[in-house]
Amino acid sequence: MQDLVYTTENHTSHVLIGESIQNLSKYAPLNRSVIITDHSVHSIYNNQFPDRPCFILGEGEHNKTLSSVSRIYDWFIGNEIDRSHFVIGIGGGIVCDVTGFAASTFMRGLPFGFVSTTLLSQVDASVGGKNGVNYSGYKNMVGTFNQPEFVICDRNMLASLSDAEYTNGLAEIFKHALISDRTMYDNIKANIAKLLNRDSEFLNYVITRSIEIKSDIVSKDEKEKGLRRLLNFGHTLAHAIEKTITISHGKAVGIGIIFASKVSAELELITQKEAEEIEFICNELQIVSEIKVDNSSIKEALHKDKKKSDNTIHYVLLRNIGDAFTEQISYEKLEDYIDALCKYC
Ligand code: GLY
Repeated sequence: MQDLVYTTENHTSHVLIGESIQNLSKYAPLNRSVIITDHSVHSIYNNQFPDRPCFILGEGEHNKTLSSVSRIYDWFIGNEIDRSHFVIGIGGGIVCDVTGFAASTFMRGLPFGFVSTTLLSQVDASVGGKNGVNYSGYKNMVGTFNQPEFVICDRNMLASLSDAEYTNGLAEIFKHALISDRTMYDNIKANIAKLLNRDSEFLNYVITRSIEIKSDIVSKDEKEKGLRRLLNFGHTLAHAIEKTITISHGKAVGIGIIFASKVSAELELITQKEAEEIEFICNELQIVSEIKVDNSSIKEALHKDKKKSDNTIHYVLLRNIGDAFTEQISYEKLEDYIDALCKYC
């Protein structure tokens, strides 16, 4: 087990890689704790949960709403929860985002921690303190930056993941290599079969590196004023695609990664050969799919996502494989690139 500690302005968090849900009592005051989870996690793992009050959230993005949070507040009130209590989220990204937000806002903030049950939430969602819900068609429009006390990444819980859910995590792992670790990229390239076969040793390596990369960025720029934007590599196009068609997050991110790499090659930052190799690896990792959607719908969705101040976006590009940076470009320019380079849209 590895206890990876990251520190932000007001907080120190522990990411416990390879820890077991059975050891929750080491990290949370169980006699003052309540649990938030979802139906599938509850049905598979409730025999491993501590015997504490449990709120079961509906599954899927459409439950990541203020009305779910409001039901949790009512449930807190019904259970006489106050600031002396501790909230444990046990689940994937949606459970962690909603739990963190409900705990952060109820009575101006209760302490909380996560048992992260999916690869995606272990390497991305549960680390970094972005909590929140969707609002009025916008993803994560309402939320807080507030760090968990701990995140337990229990490898045994990954065994029950579907292939689709597993590949969601692979896309974020590959993103971490591309933005900041050339050696990790080379290791992924050389060990694709191990990743697809969920080889535990190799998985442990990529999970650990991902969490190290993400927590290092978060401890330097918790509130996404600059550096943290790098974590959005591939996500601008991915979010527009997700708004347009039904597609898994991982596959949308895979398409976004290929596109951003092609834009980087077009700008002669990386070579065309490198961009082709990135596309090849995305295909091998099965984090892309052929989609049928016209460019105009994607561009419309891109504009709808424009909750930002002006007509430009901080777009993430690769200076090299393993070395990303952001460039402020106009939406018009991005749309031109979509027309010229996005064979998937
Ligand atoms: N998932 C991107 C971030 O946490 O900043």
